[in-house]
Amino acid sequence: MGKKSLVVANWKCNGGIELVQSYLKAFLEIDGADVVVCPPVIFLTQLRALIRKNVSLGAQDLSAFEAGPYTGNISSEMILECGGTWTLIGHSERRALHLESQEEVLQKLQAANRAGLKTILCVGETLADRKSGHAVEKVLGQLDILREANDAALLDNLSIAYEPIWAIGTGETASPSEAQSMHERIREKVSSLGETLGGNLRILYGGSVSAHNCGSFLKEGDIDGVLVGGSCLNVSEFEKIVRICGSR
Ligand code: PGA
Repeated sequence: MGKKSLVVANWKCNGGIELVQSYLKAFLEIDGADVVVCPPVIFLTQLRALIRKNVSLGAQDLSAFEAGPYTGNISSEMILECGGTWTLIGHSERRALHLESQEEVLQKLQAANRAGLKTILCVGETLADRKSGHAVEKVLGQLDILREANDAALLDNLSIAYEPIWAIGTGETASPSEAQSMHERIREKVSSLGETLGGNLRILYGGSVSAHNCGSFLKEGDIDGVLVGGSCLNVSEFEKIVRICGSR
């Protein structure tokens, strides 16, 4: 043990000034949890005051490029300038809607790492993968890029979020034991890249996490935190999640 829980709010393309204001008033400082808030990047600077309360800020994505003619892209340096120190990478919505390839996900991990951003690599299987018995293969396959990266600093700054795609925004979750067994396989695979890496790695569960169900996930030995989408749009629900995860 000894690892603090990691609790991440992923606003996705939701929220506005009102949500920003409610986060600025929220109580998110809990000894047992590291909290990262990932709003749309346009709100990062307005949320800067959270950093003084020991809450970190993150982006939901970043450009693989440092600068140049890439309309709409946001670089890692820009995220840092606006107070962000973390970024999500490879979220299933980016992979599906923006056709992000494994290669692009790796380039983004490398760009974030060069700039010193901490990263949360998102992996997960579809319902068809699970039903056909290919869930483990799919998820572990998404981690192959870490071997390709072959970079100790990148691995040191990495957390992984296991998010079964069929559980995202559906109200359905993997059972804690299903999630635990996938997390165990993920940890095993990362440990094979470097002996000490697996033990220190924080692996989060994501997919319809709520204040009601988060405690049961955190009881599992290989679940070190949660990535929260829908439930983080209600600040008091998110505060509860932080409190529960911080006191495991
Ligand atoms: P959800 O989203 O909590 O709304 O299922 C989680 C995520 O996609 O990060």
